[in-house]
Amino acid sequence: MDVFLGEWSNLLLRWAHMIVGIGWIGTSFYFIALDYSLNQQERKSPGVFGTAWQVHGGGFYHVEKFTVAPSHLPEHLHWFKWEAYLTWVTGFGLLIVQYYFHANAYLIDPAVMSLTTLQAVGLSIASLLVGWFIYDAICKVLGERTVPLAIAVFLLILAASVFYTHVFSGRGAFIHVGAFVGTIMAFNVFVTIIPGQKIMVGQLLRGEEPEAKYGKVAKQRSLHNNYLTLPVLLMMVSPHYPFLAAHPQAWLIVALILITGALFRHVLNRVDAGDDWNKYGWAAPVAIFALLCAIYATAPSEPAESGPAVSDAEALSLTTRHCVTCHAKRPTHESFKEAPKNVTLESLADLKRYAQPIMIQTVRNKAMPLGNQTQMTDEEREQLGRWIRSLR
Ligand code: HEC
Repeated sequence: MDVFLGEWSNLLLRWAHMIVGIGWIGTSFYFIALDYSLNQQERKSPGVFGTAWQVHGGGFYHVEKFTVAPSHLPEHLHWFKWEAYLTWVTGFGLLIVQYYFHANAYLIDPAVMSLTTLQAVGLSIASLLVGWFIYDAICKVLGERTVPLAIAVFLLILAASVFYTHVFSGRGAFIHVGAFVGTIMAFNVFVTIIPGQKIMVGQLLRGEEPEAKYGKVAKQRSLHNNYLTLPVLLMMVSPHYPFLAAHPQAWLIVALILITGALFRHVLNRVDAGDDWNKYGWAAPVAIFALLCAIYATAPSEPAESGPAVSDAEALSLTTRHCVTCHAKRPTHESFKEAPKNVTLESLADLKRYAQPIMIQTVRNKAMPLGNQTQMTDEEREQLGRWIRSLR
């Protein structure tokens, strides 16, 4: 595809993905908060479980929640589904234009597993689908046993991260953990929540008593989605932070992100519910501790070994060999028409100017050369590192 149009489709999909994603996560936050803040003392109409008074944008709102369902189907019923569906569709579109179309650059790392584009794309799609089926089966088997279920889903996501780091590049692996969780969340809406609600509506229309079990399952899955929102957001931005993906035990970082995000979400939910801090307060320090562990685990280690000094000419020859196909004013690499992120590495002045980012991207995190397409060795990375340190 033409590089310029490719960039535009990437930008437009990303824009749309953020918009619908904000809509979806916003409704998730809103409805869980609403659920937890329902007042059950107020005088209620028949069938109403709880009510809430809210004020927003200059108006007062009075909301009633019916369990299982109202006695008559209202004429106008708003379904919350498109924000979830479109978040998945735009996200998958982005996966295609960024990772499938440029699989060699972003998805495949021959040092991890040498795959063809077709194999990588096949693994990606198959794993996302299989992940959903395993998750769905776990939920059905464990039913309402919340703690074992939470642990099983946590372990499933860790298993997925181990799998992805053994087949894809670091960056490709992390985005796939995000896509794996995102797919579970969107399919929860598409396969479980909305069809269940449709059955209940059908029962109402036929004048039957709607079955409570559909409502219960829908609530459980939407609660899972709620707890996964914070971790999934971090997974989605992780490709911009190579220090996350560079960690040799990426699953550990994923575990810490899941613990931090889900526990923060838990605290926020309990605050919304007006619970006693003593009951849930423990979650805040544990979340912070997990975050500190993640920061500690990703801290750069200063290399102990030293070697012969590296001259300016040697440094320049390293980057000429490994970087300038992409990082030039006129790149020769087919995927780029201009230097990525405007970083040109053609002269000694360029190298000095970008010394710090090069240290981070190439020496510490091995995020560059992208997909190690120019096959830079660890020894060469070290040489570049020694040259940069000698500048100080
Ligand atoms: C195959 C093409 C390619 C090669 C080869 C390559 N890069 Fe990059 N580089 C990129 C792309 C694409 C980005 C933008 C990454 C992104 O969007 O996350 C980038 C970004 C960077 C950045 C900026 C990162 C930031 O977020 O600010 C630095 C620094 C960098 N590369 C250094 C290097 C060095 C040093 C080499 C050689 C050792 C190298 N690159 C080789 C494609 C390449």
